[in-house]
Amino acid sequence: MKFFVDTANLQEIQEAHDLGVLDGVTTNPSLMAKEGIFGHDNVMAHYKQICEIVDGDISAEVIATDFDGMVREGELLAELHPNIVVKVPMIRDGVKAIRHFSERGIKTNCTLVFSAGQAILAAKAGATYVSPFVGRLDDVSTDGLQLIEQIVHIYGNYGYQTQVLAASVRHVMHLVQCAELGADVVTCPLSVITGLLNHPLTDIGLQKFLADHAKGSK
Ligand code: G3P
Repeated sequence: MKFFVDTANLQEIQEAHDLGVLDGVTTNPSLMAKEGIFGHDNVMAHYKQICEIVDGDISAEVIATDFDGMVREGELLAELHPNIVVKVPMIRDGVKAIRHFSERGIKTNCTLVFSAGQAILAAKAGATYVSPFVGRLDDVSTDGLQLIEQIVHIYGNYGYQTQVLAASVRHVMHLVQCAELGADVVTCPLSVITGLLNHPLTDIGLQKFLADHAKGSK
């Protein structure tokens, strides 16, 4: 399972990269705004900086919601770097844009997916990744992980090449369960990745090893 970090914060991206387990980055307009990145030139420069830190797929989202606008923006984004993945919302023109990009060898990530039907459409259109939002479904009393299971099962039935990218992954157990269910990728905050490190018995065990070792130097 690939690990993507879900942030536009360069320090966090660098930290995740330095850990040695990072495969890519996802961003969205809210994450860019959180870092104060506004305006076309600043946004493009920021994506370039991310591409310099991480040698893996970097999702950059279009803002337009019409076909022509999405194609225009997506083609500009794709020209920035070969690792850019054009992130397109699951709307009618988005599906058309994904088909357009896939026919031209431009990678896409179909975002804001909340149902199996939407995930089937994304795969039919040739999306590289589909992003079901686990945490946001949980927020409205619907089992987000069940959707991951459903999509993995359906894609397996037909051998769809679209990779299941579990998004809106909020905590360690989301991540572990996505792995059990066979998601191809999880994207989450850095804290979820570093949260995987934690176990009290590891800390207690290490203290004991070091204390026993120190007895030899007395
Ligand atoms: O990858 C999508 C993600 O950024 C949404 O996460 O926690 O805002 O639902 P969240």
